[in-house]
Amino acid sequence: MEHYFTNNKDLKSEMRTINFEKNNVVFTFFSDLGVFSKNHIDYGSRLLVDCLLKSKEKFQSLLDVGCGYGFIGIVLSKLTSCSSLMVDINERAVHLCEKNIKKNKITGQAIVSNCYENVYDKFDLIVTNPPIRAGKKIVLEILNGAKEHLNPNGCLYCVIRKDQGALSILKNLSLQYKCEIIAKSKGFYVIKAKID
Ligand SMILES: C[S@@+](CC[C@H](N)C(=O)[O-])C[C@H]1O[C@@H](n2cnc3c(N)ncnc32)[C@H](O)[C@@H]1O
Repeated sequence: MEHYFTNNKDLKSEMRTINFEKNNVVFTFFSDLGVFSKNHIDYGSRLLVDCLLKSKEKFQSLLDVGCGYGFIGIVLSKLTSCSSLMVDINERAVHLCEKNIKKNKITGQAIVSNCYENVYDKFDLIVTNPPIRAGKKIVLEILNGAKEHLNPNGCLYCVIRKDQGALSILKNLSLQYKCEIIAKSKGFYVIKAKID
């Protein structure tokens, strides 16, 4: 079975665009077959972005892990004028994200990376809508691995559905971070984690 995180060079392309408006800025995202939430912006990702835009969090650099076509990193980058690095294991998603960075004129870069494999810098903010379908091991690798890539005082924000194990993941994260549930909506939890 194909997943949105597998690389399949034979997968046909049916490029489409998704428009999204926030704070009077209109964004356009190229999307395609074989990537997560290909026809619409995911509700959990929107919730995560809304939480950060409402927060008093100050950040100049952000890392979006499992960026897909780049929704979270691109919107936050544009509306907060921060620079962003976006990584995904799915080559097609990274290619779309590169196009979307150009299209939406943000300061950012998208690269292929299995979790943090190709990430060498540190960031003020790490954001992720983690790939639950890739399994808990990968999800925890992404969430717990964030520690090594955060600047002092930096923080991690993630969005996870309650019925996809948000509470057990929160329990695990609490062993490494000071955690807070920032929002709960339609079964999605947004969790903020800071190094304890
Ligand atoms: C739930 S989707 C979120 C996509 C995007 N951030 C959004 O909000 O639409 C999770 C993403 O993680 C990526 N992913 C899966 N396993 C990964 C891994 N080991 N390393 C990096 N990214 C991975 C998937 O390809 C997918 O794009």
